[in-house]
Amino acid sequence: MLIEVSQSSVLDVYQMLVGLVTPRPIAWVTTMSKTGIVNLAPFSFFNVFGANPPVVVFSPTLKRDGTKKDTLLHIEATREFVINASTEQHAEKVNQSSASLPPEESEVALIGMETVPSIHVRPPRLLGVPFALECRLLEIKSFGTGPIAPNLVIGEVITIHVDDAVLGVDGHPDPRRLKTVARLGSEYWCRTQDLFEFSRPK
Ligand SMILES: Cc1cc2nc3c(=O)[nH]c(=O)nc-3n(C[C@H](O)[C@H](O)[C@H](O)COP(=O)(O)O)c2cc1C
Repeated sequence: MLIEVSQSSVLDVYQMLVGLVTPRPIAWVTTMSKTGIVNLAPFSFFNVFGANPPVVVFSPTLKRDGTKKDTLLHIEATREFVINASTEQHAEKVNQSSASLPPEESEVALIGMETVPSIHVRPPRLLGVPFALECRLLEIKSFGTGPIAPNLVIGEVITIHVDDAVLGVDGHPDPRRLKTVARLGSEYWCRTQDLFEFSRPK
Protein backbone atom coordinates (compact mmCIF):
# COMPACT_ATOMS: atom_id res chain seq x y z
CA MET A 1 0.00 0.00 0.00
CA LEU A 2 1.20 3.48 -0.83
CA ILE A 3 -0.24 6.64 0.65
CA GLU A 4 0.35 9.92 -1.12
CA VAL A 5 -0.58 12.45 1.53
CA SER A 6 -1.65 15.07 -1.02
CA GLN A 7 -4.26 12.64 -2.43
CA SER A 8 -5.54 11.28 0.92
CA SER A 9 -8.01 12.49 3.50
CA VAL A 10 -6.70 14.06 6.71
CA LEU A 11 -8.42 11.36 8.76
CA ASP A 12 -6.82 8.52 6.77
CA VAL A 13 -3.37 10.06 7.14
CA TYR A 14 -3.98 10.56 10.86
CA GLN A 15 -5.18 6.97 11.42
CA MET A 16 -2.23 5.58 9.50
CA LEU A 17 0.39 7.66 11.30
CA VAL A 18 -0.91 7.03 14.84
CA GLY A 19 -1.10 3.31 14.02
CA LEU A 20 2.45 3.20 12.69
CA VAL A 21 4.42 5.51 14.96
CA THR A 22 4.03 3.49 18.13
CA PRO A 23 4.15 3.22 21.05
CA ARG A 24 3.70 6.86 21.99
CA PRO A 25 4.17 7.98 25.61
CA ILE A 26 1.29 9.96 27.08
CA ALA A 27 1.75 13.40 28.62
CA TRP A 28 -1.03 13.96 31.17
CA VAL A 29 -0.99 17.73 31.12
CA THR A 30 -2.22 20.15 33.76
CA THR A 31 -2.66 23.79 32.79
CA MET A 32 -4.41 26.70 34.47
CA SER A 33 -6.79 29.19 32.92
CA LYS A 34 -6.30 32.89 33.65
CA THR A 35 -9.25 32.61 36.04
CA GLY A 36 -7.60 29.77 38.00
CA ILE A 37 -9.46 26.71 36.66
CA VAL A 38 -7.20 23.64 36.42
CA ASN A 39 -7.43 21.79 33.11
CA LEU A 40 -6.26 18.20 32.64
CA ALA A 41 -5.91 16.30 29.34
CA PRO A 42 -3.78 13.52 27.82
CA PHE A 43 -1.56 13.98 24.74
CA SER A 44 0.33 11.17 22.99
CA PHE A 45 1.98 13.37 20.42
CA PHE A 46 4.66 13.78 23.06
CA ASN A 47 8.28 13.15 23.86
CA VAL A 48 11.48 14.48 25.43
CA PHE A 49 14.11 15.95 23.10
CA GLY A 50 17.22 16.61 25.15
CA ALA A 51 18.50 17.33 28.61
CA ASN A 52 20.76 20.36 28.40
CA PRO A 53 18.45 22.22 28.63
CA PRO A 54 15.74 19.59 29.16
CA VAL A 55 13.18 20.11 26.40
CA VAL A 56 9.80 18.40 26.01
CA VAL A 57 7.36 18.74 23.12
CA PHE A 58 3.71 17.81 22.85
CA SER A 59 1.03 18.72 20.34
CA PRO A 60 -2.53 19.76 21.14
CA THR A 61 -3.84 19.65 17.58
CA LEU A 62 -6.65 21.86 16.35
CA LYS A 63 -10.12 20.40 16.90
CA ARG A 64 -12.20 18.96 14.08
CA ASP A 65 -13.83 22.41 13.72
CA GLY A 66 -10.41 24.08 13.45
CA THR A 67 -10.52 25.75 16.90
CA LYS A 68 -7.92 25.47 19.67
CA LYS A 69 -8.14 23.05 22.61
CA ASP A 70 -8.24 24.50 26.14
CA THR A 71 -4.73 23.21 26.92
CA LEU A 72 -3.27 25.23 24.03
CA LEU A 73 -5.29 28.35 24.91
CA HIS A 74 -4.14 28.18 28.54
CA ILE A 75 -0.48 27.72 27.62
CA GLU A 76 -0.67 30.63 25.16
CA ALA A 77 -2.11 32.76 27.98
CA THR A 78 0.07 31.60 30.91
CA ARG A 79 3.21 30.00 29.32
CA GLU A 80 3.25 27.25 31.97
CA PHE A 81 2.24 23.58 32.21
CA VAL A 82 2.93 20.36 34.11
CA ILE A 83 3.40 16.94 32.51
CA ASN A 84 2.17 14.19 34.83
CA ALA A 85 2.94 10.47 34.52
CA SER A 86 0.41 8.19 32.80
CA THR A 87 0.62 4.81 34.49
CA GLU A 88 -1.33 1.53 34.61
CA GLN A 89 -2.88 2.57 37.91
CA HIS A 90 -4.46 5.64 36.35
CA ALA A 91 -4.95 4.49 32.73
CA GLU A 92 -8.73 4.64 32.91
CA LYS A 93 -8.64 8.12 34.43
CA VAL A 94 -6.16 9.27 31.78
CA ASN A 95 -8.69 8.20 29.18
CA GLN A 96 -11.63 9.80 31.04
CA SER A 97 -9.77 13.09 31.28
CA SER A 98 -9.87 13.41 27.47
CA ALA A 99 -13.57 14.23 27.71
CA SER A 100 -14.33 17.56 26.16
CA LEU A 101 -15.63 19.81 28.97
CA PRO A 102 -16.62 23.47 28.87
CA PRO A 103 -13.58 25.62 29.81
CA GLU A 104 -15.14 26.61 33.15
CA GLU A 105 -15.27 22.95 34.32
CA SER A 106 -12.22 20.99 35.53
CA GLU A 107 -11.49 17.42 34.42
CA VAL A 108 -9.56 16.87 37.68
CA ALA A 109 -12.67 16.77 39.87
CA LEU A 110 -14.65 14.87 37.23
CA ILE A 111 -12.29 11.87 37.28
CA GLY A 112 -11.66 11.93 41.05
CA MET A 113 -8.01 13.05 41.09
CA GLU A 114 -6.47 15.59 43.43
CA THR A 115 -3.74 18.15 42.85
CA VAL A 116 -0.88 19.61 44.88
CA PRO A 117 0.73 22.99 44.24
CA SER A 118 3.78 23.09 41.98
CA ILE A 119 6.93 24.86 43.13
CA HIS A 120 7.75 27.15 40.19
CA VAL A 121 4.64 27.22 37.97
CA ARG A 122 0.99 28.04 38.64
CA PRO A 123 -0.61 24.86 37.25
CA PRO A 124 -0.59 22.24 40.03
CA ARG A 125 0.66 18.67 39.63
CA LEU A 126 -1.44 15.58 40.21
CA LEU A 127 -1.32 13.87 43.57
CA GLY A 128 -0.44 10.17 43.50
CA VAL A 129 1.37 9.96 40.17
CA PRO A 130 5.00 8.77 40.24
CA PHE A 131 6.47 11.77 38.41
CA ALA A 132 5.59 15.27 37.31
CA LEU A 133 7.57 17.75 35.21
CA GLU A 134 7.09 21.46 35.88
CA CYS A 135 7.54 23.20 32.50
CA ARG A 136 7.82 26.71 31.10
CA LEU A 137 6.92 27.44 27.49
CA LEU A 138 9.83 28.09 25.12
CA GLU A 139 7.74 28.46 21.97
CA ILE A 140 4.74 27.17 20.05
CA LYS A 141 5.22 26.07 16.43
CA SER A 142 1.92 25.80 14.54
CA PHE A 143 1.44 24.24 11.11
CA GLY A 144 -1.76 24.43 9.06
CA THR A 145 -5.17 25.75 10.00
CA GLY A 146 -7.61 22.85 9.60
CA PRO A 147 -8.69 19.81 11.64
CA ILE A 148 -5.86 17.94 13.44
CA ALA A 149 -3.35 20.65 12.53
CA PRO A 150 -0.34 20.33 14.84
CA ASN A 151 0.69 22.90 17.42
CA LEU A 152 4.06 21.95 18.85
CA VAL A 153 4.23 23.17 22.42
CA ILE A 154 7.95 23.27 23.18
CA GLY A 155 8.72 23.56 26.87
CA GLU A 156 11.69 23.57 29.20
CA VAL A 157 11.54 21.30 32.25
CA ILE A 158 12.23 23.38 35.34
CA THR A 159 11.64 20.84 38.11
CA ILE A 160 11.28 17.05 38.12
CA HIS A 161 9.20 15.51 40.90
CA VAL A 162 9.75 11.76 41.19
CA ASP A 163 8.51 9.23 43.73
CA ASP A 164 11.50 7.38 45.23
CA ALA A 165 9.41 4.19 45.09
CA VAL A 166 9.85 3.98 41.29
CA LEU A 167 13.65 4.23 41.43
CA GLY A 168 15.87 1.16 41.21
CA VAL A 169 18.99 0.48 43.29
CA ASP A 170 21.03 2.49 40.75
CA GLY A 171 18.86 5.53 41.46
CA HIS A 172 17.35 5.51 37.95
CA PRO A 173 13.66 4.95 37.18
CA ASP A 174 12.88 1.22 37.07
CA PRO A 175 10.22 0.49 34.39
CA ARG A 176 8.92 -2.45 36.44
CA ARG A 177 8.04 0.01 39.21
CA LEU A 178 7.09 3.00 37.08
CA LYS A 179 4.55 1.10 34.94
CA THR A 180 3.89 3.79 32.35
CA VAL A 181 1.30 3.13 29.65
CA ALA A 182 1.43 4.24 26.02
CA ARG A 183 -0.78 4.66 22.96
CA LEU A 184 -0.83 2.51 19.85
CA GLY A 185 -3.19 2.89 16.87
CA SER A 186 -6.99 2.57 16.87
CA GLU A 187 -8.21 2.15 20.46
CA TYR A 188 -5.12 0.21 21.58
CA TRP A 189 -2.94 1.06 24.55
CA CYS A 190 0.05 -0.89 25.90
CA ARG A 191 1.86 -1.54 29.16
CA THR A 192 5.63 -1.39 29.51
CA GLN A 193 6.21 -4.71 31.29
CA ASP A 194 7.55 -6.93 28.47
CA LEU A 195 11.17 -5.85 28.87
CA PHE A 196 14.47 -6.84 27.34
CA GLU A 197 17.91 -5.29 27.71
CA PHE A 198 20.74 -4.27 25.38
CA SER A 199 24.03 -2.65 26.27
CA ARG A 200 24.89 0.18 23.88
CA PRO A 201 27.77 -0.63 21.51
CA LYS A 202 31.03 1.16 22.38
C1 LIG B 1 -4.45 8.66 25.40
C2 LIG B 1 -4.88 9.88 24.65
C3 LIG B 1 -3.95 10.60 23.91
C4 LIG B 1 -4.34 11.77 23.24
N1 LIG B 1 -3.38 12.45 22.52
C5 LIG B 1 -3.71 13.62 21.93
C6 LIG B 1 -2.71 14.39 21.26
O1 LIG B 1 -1.54 14.03 21.18
N2 LIG B 1 -3.10 15.57 20.71
C7 LIG B 1 -4.37 16.03 20.79
O2 LIG B 1 -4.65 17.12 20.32
N3 LIG B 1 -5.35 15.33 21.43
C8 LIG B 1 -5.03 14.14 22.01
N4 LIG B 1 -6.00 13.44 22.69
C9 LIG B 1 -7.34 14.02 22.82
C10 LIG B 1 -7.37 15.12 23.89
O3 LIG B 1 -6.99 14.60 25.15
C11 LIG B 1 -8.78 15.74 23.96
O4 LIG B 1 -9.04 16.44 22.76
C12 LIG B 1 -9.01 16.65 25.15
O5 LIG B 1 -10.38 16.96 25.26
C13 LIG B 1 -8.26 17.97 25.06
O6 LIG B 1 -8.55 18.67 26.24
P1 LIG B 1 -8.55 20.25 26.37
O7 LIG B 1 -9.54 20.80 25.35
O8 LIG B 1 -8.97 20.46 27.78
O9 LIG B 1 -7.15 20.73 26.08
C14 LIG B 1 -5.67 12.23 23.32
C15 LIG B 1 -6.61 11.49 24.05
C16 LIG B 1 -6.23 10.31 24.69
C17 LIG B 1 -7.24 9.53 25.47
